[in-house]
Amino acid sequence: MKILSSFVLSLALISTAGIASAAGDAQAGKATAATCMGCHGAPGLRNAYPAFRVPKLGGQQEQYLIVALKAYQSGERSHPTMQAQAGSMSDTEINNVAAYFSGLAGPDAVELGDGDANAGAAKAQACFACHGAGGKKPIAPMYPSLAGQYPDYLSHALADYKSGARNNAIMKGFAAALSKQDMEDIAAYFGSQASSLSTPTNW
Ligand code: HEC
Ligand code: HEC
Repeated sequence: MKILSSFVLSLALISTAGIASAAGDAQAGKATAATCMGCHGAPGLRNAYPAFRVPKLGGQQEQYLIVALKAYQSGERSHPTMQAQAGSMSDTEINNVAAYFSGLAGPDAVELGDGDANAGAAKAQACFACHGAGGKKPIAPMYPSLAGQYPDYLSHALADYKSGARNNAIMKGFAAALSKQDMEDIAAYFGSQASSLSTPTNW
């Protein structure tokens, strides 16, 4: 346990050292975000093949939104629509749009999805070291909040880390240990947690 926490701590330190202060301009980000709202501002809208809901961005950690957009740009995350969306954005636009979305906190209604949230609560304990208790307060600014995210999106994301469609060194190891049932249970648990994540409707 001691080894795990110092591992986690050093990850946090390394990553924090790597970010310049974003200082995104939320007002400018609002204009850029207009093209995103057809999907990210439509509650419950589904991605087709595979079917899962478009993730909530409102209230998400600002630095995490930047990291995620850059991962689509670089191909570290493969999702053709988001690669196209992020591909044409400058660093400044990314910083601004991240500042804008992170300021649009919920709360939205929470839900369970297909899994067993009680079973998921037990399985999710190992995740709290980075994502915070209940997935509410991540330990580092570039780690995502999970609480209140759409459960089907969370299990999709976990499956992508496991398959390598999302090529993230940290999450690959954790996702590799999970069965499909584990992913659905954990997703049901985090999805059921009250949080400030939202699909903004009033922009
Ligand atoms: C056609 C629908 C669509 C549009 C338009 C769109 N997105 Fe997305 N976005 C998605 C889907 C679907 C995903 C999930 C992709 C995946 O599985 O990795 C996603 C994922 C994301 C993520 C990752 C969220 C997370 O929790 O990791 C960010 C950040 C994001 N989009 C930002 C944007 C921004 C900024 C724009 C506008 C410039 C935008 N998106 C436009 C559908 C869309
Ligand atoms: C050592 C730290 C750490 C631990 C422990 C950890 N994660 Fe993560 N998690 C991360 C980081 C960093 C990211 C962002 C990766 C990226 O940029 O794609 C992430 C991303 C995610 C995402 C994507 C969220 C989104 O909005 O797309 C999910 C889902 C997730 N983690 C679930 C879990 C689960 C479930 C566990 C426990 C089984 C877990 N994590 C344990 C660090 C961690």
